[in-house]
Amino acid sequence: MSEKSNLTFQHFFPQASSWVDGLATSPLAVFVNGPRFGYASWEVGHILSLILIGGTTILMGLRLLGAGVTEEEPREIYRSLRFWQNLGVIGIVVTGVLIGSANAAKLYNSSAFTVKMMCLLSGVILTYGAARPVAAANGVVSTMSKVWLAIGGAIFLAGLWVFTTTDLIDVGIYHVITAAALILIPVTRGRVRWGYIAGMVALIVAQYVHTHIVIKPDDYDHLNPVNKTYTALYGVWIVGAGLITLFRGKGDAGGPLAKLVAYAAILVWVLGAAAGRWIAFQ
Ligand code: HEM
Repeated sequence: MSEKSNLTFQHFFPQASSWVDGLATSPLAVFVNGPRFGYASWEVGHILSLILIGGTTILMGLRLLGAGVTEEEPREIYRSLRFWQNLGVIGIVVTGVLIGSANAAKLYNSSAFTVKMMCLLSGVILTYGAARPVAAANGVVSTMSKVWLAIGGAIFLAGLWVFTTTDLIDVGIYHVITAAALILIPVTRGRVRWGYIAGMVALIVAQYVHTHIVIKPDDYDHLNPVNKTYTALYGVWIVGAGLITLFRGKGDAGGPLAKLVAYAAILVWVLGAAAGRWIAFQ
């Protein structure tokens, strides 16, 4: 299967090839693969760091979206969680560099890894430039946070584009769709919530019937376009519901922009994690 986009580090920096090959025998890679701790322990550290990032970002973001721990002000949640979030970001980079040194050639030639690095960059920008200052200001979005939202958001969308246009990893977009779909359940309210859930269930049932009964499950030529259509429909439904939540919920900590910051700051790390997992499948 040919790749529609092939945005790997090898593609952009072909001259680094021999340096990358040499990394596998570097002292760092030998240490990571060695008997002390061992490769698997560093990978566990990578995932634990991801859990810290995910947990803290979701709690902070949900509060800005008017859900989750609403008994506390956003700035209180930010103050309680910022240390753990810092630990997660530092931890994921340190463990990433360690396990990455032992896998350098694979990462060098992986579009999934490129997406992950775009998410790391935009995740740091959106988290530190936008989500945290907005939470610390109880939902007020400063001019600088708007600038960071624009820059981080653009890199995030570019990463999403690379992910969804690269064969083999594009299916990982279902992680992002699932995360967005789940976030909207606590964030929507009243009739909007039930209408949203009913639409999602209808789409899931329709996709199942269409791809398991109407079309034979091994008829890939016909399944692929149908699945792509459903993926787009999920996207439209979720983005539509998300847009409604931006302008609803009087009394929430922040306005539409604060909520947009929250959605972006959560989903950018989900996309990064999906791309990280998909390195193995490419
Ligand atoms: C300097 C930054 C990073 C480097 C060098 C790095 C490197 C790696 C490597 C080498 C793997 C193993 C890939 C494989 O063989 O399958 C991996 C896995 C993974 N990474 Fe990263 N990573 C970094 C940052 C991140 C970030 C920011 C996230 C999350 C947003 C992340 C999430 C993951 C996940 C979910 C896996 C899959 C683990 C598994 O399946 O066991 N990584 N990473």
